[in-house]
Amino acid sequence: PSNTTGPNLELRQYQGVWMLGTVVPGLISLQRHFRSRPGDVLLASPVKSGTTWIKSLTFATMARFSYPPCAADHPLRRLNPHECVPYMEEVFLHGQEAKLEALPSPRIMHTHLHYSLLPRSLAKCKTVFVCREPKDMVVSLWHFLNRAGVNFSFSEVIELICDGKNPNGPFWDHVLGYWRASKVRPDGVLFVRYEKMLVDPVSTVRELGRFLGVPFSAAEEAAELPMEICKLCSFDTMRGLQGNKTGSTGEFNFAHQSYFRKGIVGDWVNHMTPKTARRIDTTVEEKLRGSGLTFTS
Ligand code: A3P
Repeated sequence: PSNTTGPNLELRQYQGVWMLGTVVPGLISLQRHFRSRPGDVLLASPVKSGTTWIKSLTFATMARFSYPPCAADHPLRRLNPHECVPYMEEVFLHGQEAKLEALPSPRIMHTHLHYSLLPRSLAKCKTVFVCREPKDMVVSLWHFLNRAGVNFSFSEVIELICDGKNPNGPFWDHVLGYWRASKVRPDGVLFVRYEKMLVDPVSTVRELGRFLGVPFSAAEEAAELPMEICKLCSFDTMRGLQGNKTGSTGEFNFAHQSYFRKGIVGDWVNHMTPKTARRIDTTVEEKLRGSGLTFTS
C-alpha cells in the first residue's frame, strides 16, 4: 500500500484476524485482564459502520433516567460519543483500565474485535453489533483515512477489503461471528444494521431499550422519549454539537468532526464503477453463502 507518511498501519494476523500491529498488545492485555461486571453492555462493529451513532443511541437510552435527552447538561451535548463510550482495545493498549473501573454500572464499552477474539467474560455481556453494507463502508473508510492524512488510494482500499486484509478483517468473518452468535443467543447478541437504523431510528431505539432491559414505559412513549433520543442523536444534531466540531480522539488523533461525513445509504454509486461494485458484492456474498446473512437485495 502507498501509505508512507501517515500513522503506522502495518497489519498482522492474530488468531486468524488481521489487526493493526500497534493494537495487538492492547488486545492481548484485554484478553488477559478484562473483568466484567453484571450489567455490562458491549457495543461491537466493523469500522465506519455506525459506531458513533450506536454509541450515542445506546448511551442516551441507558442514561435517560439521569439525563433526559432534552437536558441542557446531557453528556452528549458536551462530549464526543467516543468519549462517552470507551474503546476497549485502546484502553488496554494504554493501560487505562482504571477508566473502565471508574465507569458507573451499567457500563457501556465498545470494541472492533471479532466475536472469536472476545475474552469469555466479555462475550457473556449483552452485546449490540452494528454493521453496514460493505460498499458504503469502504467509501466511508477511504474518506476517513484521507481526512486523517493517510495516503491510500481508493483502489488500494478496495483490494484490502476484497482480500480480507483490512484492520479487523476479513469483513465477512467479522459479521458472521456476531450473526451466528445472535442466532444462538438472541437474548445476548443483538444484530443491527446501519441501513435499518436510518429508515426507522425510533424502532431501533425501542429495540435497544427492550434488549438492554430498559424498555420504554407507556409514560415515556407518551412523552415521545424514543423520538427525542433519535433527535438528539441524529446526524444533523450531533454534527453541530460543540464536542463533535472540535477536538480529536484516539490512538491516531482522529478529528471528532471526521466521524460525521454524509450519513446516507448508497454513496458508493458516486465512487465506484459497476464492475468494482460487482466485485465487492460477489466476494462478500460468496463468503456469506449459506449463512442466511446477505448485504445485497
Ligand atoms: P459516511 O462516511 O458514509 O458519512 P463510524 O462511526 O463507525 O466510524 O461510522 C462513520 C459513519 O457513520 C460515517 O458515514 C458517518 O457520517 C456516519 N454517522 C455518524 N454519525 C451518524 C448519525 N448520527 N446518523 C447517521 N450516520 C452517522
